[in-house]
Amino acid sequence: MLQSQRIAIIGGSSGIGLETARQVIEQGAEVVIASRSEAKLQAAANQLGPAASAYVLDTTDEEQVKLFFEKVGDLNHLIVSAAETSGGSFLQTESARSRELFENKFWGQYYAAKYGAAKLADGGSITLFSGVAAYKAMAGSAALGAVNAAVSNLGQTLALELAPIRVNVVSPGIIDTPSRSKMPEDARNQLYHAVAGKLPAKRIGSASDVALCVLYLIHNSFVTGTVQHVDGGHRLT
Ligand SMILES: NC(=O)c1ccc[n+]([C@@H]2O[C@H](COP(=O)([O-])OP(=O)(O)OC[C@H]3O[C@@H](n4cnc5c(N)ncnc54)[C@H](OP(=O)(O)O)[C@@H]3O)[C@@H](O)[C@H]2O)c1
Repeated sequence: MLQSQRIAIIGGSSGIGLETARQVIEQGAEVVIASRSEAKLQAAANQLGPAASAYVLDTTDEEQVKLFFEKVGDLNHLIVSAAETSGGSFLQTESARSRELFENKFWGQYYAAKYGAAKLADGGSITLFSGVAAYKAMAGSAALGAVNAAVSNLGQTLALELAPIRVNVVSPGIIDTPSRSKMPEDARNQLYHAVAGKLPAKRIGSASDVALCVLYLIHNSFVTGTVQHVDGGHRLT
């Protein structure tokens, strides 16, 4: 159980982060969720109830991240699921768009680990987020695959440098979360169906599948420097 544990979830207003917040609160934790949109944070905080507090934060801004950790107080665990990702043909995608991907998903997690580490109590842990594009080459995912690979590598090095704080990385496959809502519903369902058919698990993932893995990483004090694949076997296909 997680009674009297304080957990910050940057990216906790949606998808995997929100579901993780729900699950750790169920186990007795107090949660601080952070993301850019005040409206999304408010809706998430209402859903989560009095054990959650919300903080507006853009992880691409190093000063904001620093200030967040100055204000947030002591923590037991830090989870960084914040990211806005995009894909597209390597030759046709503007380089600036790929740089934005690094700004958001790589540098956001880098800053969070850098300023969050000092706030973590003994026995604390950091969980970062990579993704299957780092482990399975996919057309249209050149920059995303590179960002995810960079995060996985960062996590392993930080497990050495920040020890005894434990640092692990979760690598989701195709997970049904609001991050995929930009795609029209019909196309999305077709994609889910096509991918599910090829996966060893024969289905796509849910936010709950990934949150369960984050909970395992919080609880197991002998696990550090790992990349946990929650992808239904996608990288093997
Ligand atoms: N879903 C999948 O299929 C999948 C697959 C592979 C990897 N992943 C990875 O899993 C993680 C969680 O994804 P998800 O599907 O749960 O996404 P999601 O539902 O879109 O949630 C992402 C969260 O990040 C926040 N966010 C985005 N950019 C931010 C920034 N610069 N600063 C602060 N907060 C920011 C968003 O809120 P605001 O908009 O309010 O900022 C939101 O709360 C991400 O790292 C994602 O790349 C997901």
